[in-house]
Amino acid sequence: MTLYKKKSDLFEKINDIKGKNLIIGLVPTMGSLHKGHLSLVERSLEENDYTIVSIFINPTQFNDKKDLDSYPKNLIDDCRYLESLSSDIIIFSPDIDEIYDKNLSVKQFDFQGLDKFMEGEYRKGHFEGVATVVSHLFKIVRPNKAYFGEKDYQQLRIIQQLVIQNNIPVNVIGCKTIREYDGLALSSRNAKLDLHSRKIASKIFEAINFCRDNYKSKDLEKIINDIDIFFKNISEIELEYFIIADSETLTPVKKITKDKQYRVFIAVRIDEVRLIDNIELN
Ligand code: PAF
Repeated sequence: MTLYKKKSDLFEKINDIKGKNLIIGLVPTMGSLHKGHLSLVERSLEENDYTIVSIFINPTQFNDKKDLDSYPKNLIDDCRYLESLSSDIIIFSPDIDEIYDKNLSVKQFDFQGLDKFMEGEYRKGHFEGVATVVSHLFKIVRPNKAYFGEKDYQQLRIIQQLVIQNNIPVNVIGCKTIREYDGLALSSRNAKLDLHSRKIASKIFEAINFCRDNYKSKDLEKIINDIDIFFKNISEIELEYFIIADSETLTPVKKITKDKQYRVFIAVRIDEVRLIDNIELN
């Protein structure tokens, strides 16, 4: 494992790799790595000559300063974790100025409506921040492939849109969500849950699974209403949204059409920790 903090040092390495016509896979992360991240890294190791893992807590994608300040940081453990997978992994963990050059601003994008609902609605400016940092990373690393988890499905769709719209020659690859024994999607934020909240968090998967089990036989509005009542009865969980949407356009729907793909999306707060999840329905 080699750790780079400076763009200029990484450039040299990347020029060398590109000069040999070798293939680069990028796994962008904000650190505090868990098995979900590692599954992306393993896939990149299998499919590329070089794997670069970026570890950068991107300030511009947080609309809540408390959330940013409390985001878990574990660079030493992250490096150890990656080293245990392969000693060839390149880690890029820059300071804020290396990415933003003392200008902590976001670019403007047209996400073609993909950002209108769910995270885009509840975390204003979030996707501009994500797309800005991912654009910077793509420019610095020049990867052939980039790996993103389906847990952040809306983010994945937005990045797919970003590369198409801007003709960025990167193959964006979505990878399946990795779950705990009780269905809770792996997330760096899970580390912020105490024992009781962690137990309660399994209700998120219970809710989206209920939707998957019932969407064929029940009215979607009835399902959404049942879920609303389900969470009102769990005082520890505050439901932010529960939305069934077209997997392509991410537009919420009230009816399922056979020839389209749909997913159910959820965001909740448990003891101030915000968690999201989604699964495909058909
Ligand atoms: O999914 C994440 O961890 C972040 O949003 C990403 C893609 C690394 C951008 O900061």
